[in-house]
Amino acid sequence: MNEVLNQIEQFGVVPVVAIDDADHAPDLGRALLDGGLPCAEITFRTAAAAEAIRRIASNYPEMLVGAGTVLTVEQAQKAADAGAQFIVTPGFDAAVVDWCIEREIPVTPGVMTPTEINMALNKGLNVLKFFPAEAAGGIQTLKAIGGPYGGVRFIPTGGISPANLSYYLRLPMVVACGGSWLVKKQMIASGHFDQIVELTAQAVEIVREARAPVAHAL
Ligand code: 3PG
Repeated sequence: MNEVLNQIEQFGVVPVVAIDDADHAPDLGRALLDGGLPCAEITFRTAAAAEAIRRIASNYPEMLVGAGTVLTVEQAQKAADAGAQFIVTPGFDAAVVDWCIEREIPVTPGVMTPTEINMALNKGLNVLKFFPAEAAGGIQTLKAIGGPYGGVRFIPTGGISPANLSYYLRLPMVVACGGSWLVKKQMIASGHFDQIVELTAQAVEIVREARAPVAHAL
């Protein structure tokens, strides 16, 4: 795995963010840092995405900031220009994947089926977003896929919450989980960054517990 994916594995959770006003980006970055998760995937679902990436990247160089919901090469270009360190796509788009590979920008395309996994493997990618994780069968599907695709690892996203996070993290093929539950649009808009700090700290604790070595009775 490349350095960015190694960091994502260490974090265990990638906060997926949709932000309407880039002026709130520095406070968002601060909240994630205070909660213990120096990482954000800013989605191109809002017009503010590129500017939010730029502000977080310049205010907090210690954070790992990427772009999500990247659907076109143009968006990938905007994200990279703004300082995105990784690109996440909801589905497999060969043009976006090729663009990222040529520029050595880590990319995790979304896959849901064996056919899509093959397409990614043929591009030399073996860490993929599994999306939409829960709707696509969740842990059971991941375990079934793990048979023929032993060398592939996943970042399940879609329907992950504090209730099921630890089950995913305990699977060896799971690098980390993505999710929007830590940062909701209304928390940002209403200035409730304390909630983001709290939810982030809770997620960090779940990651720590899920990965703690199991104590064996003597
Ligand atoms: C994404 O963009 O990756 C997903 O929409 C996040 O899914 P969630 O909102 O269920 O966490």
